[in-house]
Amino acid sequence: MITIAVIYGGMSSEHSISCISAGAIMAELPREKYEIFPVGITQDGTWVAGTTDPVGDSQLPSVDGGREVALSVNPARRGELYDPNTGEVLATVDVVFPVLHGTFGEDGTIQGLLDLAGVPYVGTGVLSSACSMDKEFTKTIARAAGVPVTREFILHEHAEVTAVDDEVREYLGLPVFVKPARGGSSIGINKVESWDKLADAVRSARLYDSKVIIEAELIGDEVEIGVIERPDGELVASPPAKLNGTSDSDEGFYGFETKYLDNVVTATIPAGYDDELNEQLAQLSLTTFRALSCQGLARVDFFVTESGPMLNEVNTMPGFTSISMFPQVFQAAGMTYGELLETLIATALERSAQ
Ligand SMILES: Nc1ncnc2c1ncn2[C@@H]1O[C@H](COP(=O)(O)OP(=O)(O)O)[C@@H](O)[C@H]1O
Ligand SMILES: [Mg+2]
Repeated sequence: MITIAVIYGGMSSEHSISCISAGAIMAELPREKYEIFPVGITQDGTWVAGTTDPVGDSQLPSVDGGREVALSVNPARRGELYDPNTGEVLATVDVVFPVLHGTFGEDGTIQGLLDLAGVPYVGTGVLSSACSMDKEFTKTIARAAGVPVTREFILHEHAEVTAVDDEVREYLGLPVFVKPARGGSSIGINKVESWDKLADAVRSARLYDSKVIIEAELIGDEVEIGVIERPDGELVASPPAKLNGTSDSDEGFYGFETKYLDNVVTATIPAGYDDELNEQLAQLSLTTFRALSCQGLARVDFFVTESGPMLNEVNTMPGFTSISMFPQVFQAAGMTYGELLETLIATALERSAQ
């Protein structure tokens, strides 16, 4: 029996999505092999004993409370989850599946805590989580590894929007995409078609992050590729999924409403490209994964432009419901949702055994 803690919810704007992903994962894990200890994190950051069905009949599920839980960082109490009010040990876990998106989930913070606690976990470590969450560093590292990315300008904390002077404007060209450097789910992102709208867009991105990335537009198919690491270290890239209808949406791109509310975007999996392009996308995904030192899994997103694929961004804990893109691209390659989970957990356990 493997005792696994599935952690979900969290203090990010993607709280509900995380609950849905975790619910799907727990529903799939075979009970004869795994003993599951669900841990919910409320929107204000409290860890509580969770449930194996965090969704129920709710459309926007959330973690609302429960018995408080803490993870021991004492090496002599490795893997212990206990009630900090009574000291009672509730479970001793072998592995953790942090099904958390965005801030405090995908950015290296929880990974650091799990490292301190000495508990193996599914997915990538501190450095690569932090770099992949940060669109500036993702691009710097990808560019150094020879992965094509588009032009950008970084507006660092405290920098005034006037730093985007005529020279920068000419370099980027219109339209530009203005994004929080460490965001997700398209929240705080705006497409700017005239420079007089830039200041507003920067203000709206800064609601989520003091650092803002201003990017030249990528034109072409938006595609997503999954990469997983097998227990022996071999990396596998999935076939690409091509998103349809993103630019026909009201927002004009794959914005928050388009992603979660409008149901206008469909995916073609596999994308239907020729072997050469498929191979190129697979190789670029693997190069990106390695360059960022990712572990376990990542979803690597590209645009297929006229001059070939260009990286957009990397997600180290992508959406994980059974209809999310990440499980679907592996299903297209013949790997079931259950096999995918087994592989990710086996890889986490194997790494800790080394
Ligand atoms: N440079 C760009 N050119 C064209 N579209 C973009 C660009 N950057 C972002 N977008 C659009 O905005 C969406 C969200 O941006 P993304 O960088 O993926 O941020 P998030 O981490 O919030 O998903 C993308 O899926 C794409 O539709
Ligand atoms: Mg994205």
